[in-house]
Amino acid sequence: MFTLDRRHALPFLDPDLRDALTPRVEAAHQAVLDGTGAGAEMLGWRQMLLDPDDALLGRVVEVAEEVRARADVLLCIGIGGSYLGTDAVIDALSPPFAKTKPEVLFAGHHLSPRYHEELLHYLEGKSVYVNVISKSGTTLEPALAFRFVRAWMEQRFEDHARRTIATTDASKGVLHDLAAAKGYRTFVVPDDVGGRFSVLTPVGLLPIAAAGIDVRALVDGAGQAAHALTDFDPAHPAIAYAADRFCFHEDGYKTEVMAVTEPRLRGVGAWWQQLFGESEGKEHKGLFPVVLQYTTDLHSVGQYVQEGQRTLVETFLRVEDDGPGLVVEASSDDPDRLNYLAGKPYAEVNRVAWEATAAAHAEGGVPNWTVELPRLDAPTLGGCLYGFEHAVAVSGYLLAVNPFDQPGVEAYKQKMFALLGKP
Ligand code: PA5
Repeated sequence: MFTLDRRHALPFLDPDLRDALTPRVEAAHQAVLDGTGAGAEMLGWRQMLLDPDDALLGRVVEVAEEVRARADVLLCIGIGGSYLGTDAVIDALSPPFAKTKPEVLFAGHHLSPRYHEELLHYLEGKSVYVNVISKSGTTLEPALAFRFVRAWMEQRFEDHARRTIATTDASKGVLHDLAAAKGYRTFVVPDDVGGRFSVLTPVGLLPIAAAGIDVRALVDGAGQAAHALTDFDPAHPAIAYAADRFCFHEDGYKTEVMAVTEPRLRGVGAWWQQLFGESEGKEHKGLFPVVLQYTTDLHSVGQYVQEGQRTLVETFLRVEDDGPGLVVEASSDDPDRLNYLAGKPYAEVNRVAWEATAAAHAEGGVPNWTVELPRLDAPTLGGCLYGFEHAVAVSGYLLAVNPFDQPGVEAYKQKMFALLGKP
């Protein structure tokens, strides 16, 4: 899981109002546990961790092992919840400059013609497996990409059907029917798990396992976090985070910046952005979620965070122990005037930058918390994913919205399909 450092948030909160909120927070948490809130039929993401399906996990690992043994590239085709969690976990847990074997690439997560054309060129001569992922089976972006990829695979691999794995609905949808007709192996996206909550189902687990990550450890970590969130504890980091940010929302704050202090956490930020944006942003409510990477973005929009409109709250996401790492050495003539750092680990400089930024932003009028992972490994990340999922469910109920639907996503699709002449 994670810890929550509230030093720079509490001074902005009225303690009496914050305490008075506790019974509502407990009711929201209890509604998640009891399945009595809006969208309760979509709580499978929690139940599957309390009662894990070992046989399913075994099958995921078995297929992933085959992909690892036979493929140079695993091409994952999906968008939104069928893409972001996979990208987040693989990025966070893989070494930054060593390509995973197989290399995990993505398609159908946008409509760029250039990207898809160049991707097919890049795949030429490589042993390719495809995992096409769509819960509905009808989303245009992955469906269109898969049409091109399918034709490409059929022209190049006799065993193209064996090399194509579909993750979709158990019994309906275009992708389900196509997979049955072509004889693809399939995994199921459970009916009671929405896309943005699906990273710990086969949607995410198959490609994550194929990238060589221990999915059992990931799921175990998430399961432990789910068990720890069975009793109500107002001080639990996920609960306190949900409640604090609700107070700021009610106080008129508009935007929540997630500032990751490690490039490897950028994908987790993008996953969090979808989770909170799609779950809360309805009925004209919710904090608008934005991801920044520090210290990189301190040299761009950092100016705005420090001195722009005072409607921001900020969540730092950092790792406490990221391994031994580089240490700054003393230089005899100190040509770059950096000897004042001699003896300090690089990680210490990054830690101090976070500490200083959190204090400066608070002084500038930006309430902030720090979500801190003790280390970046599979169980800790699994716990972190669950912690945010639980927090957004509680937070959605505090806002009195259904955190599990996304009616607004349909609006652009209707107009696009009308313009494209979809029958
Ligand atoms: O969270 C969600 O439900 C969405 O982001 C979906 O994951 C996304 O729209 C892709 O949908 P599908 O998996 O049905 O293709």
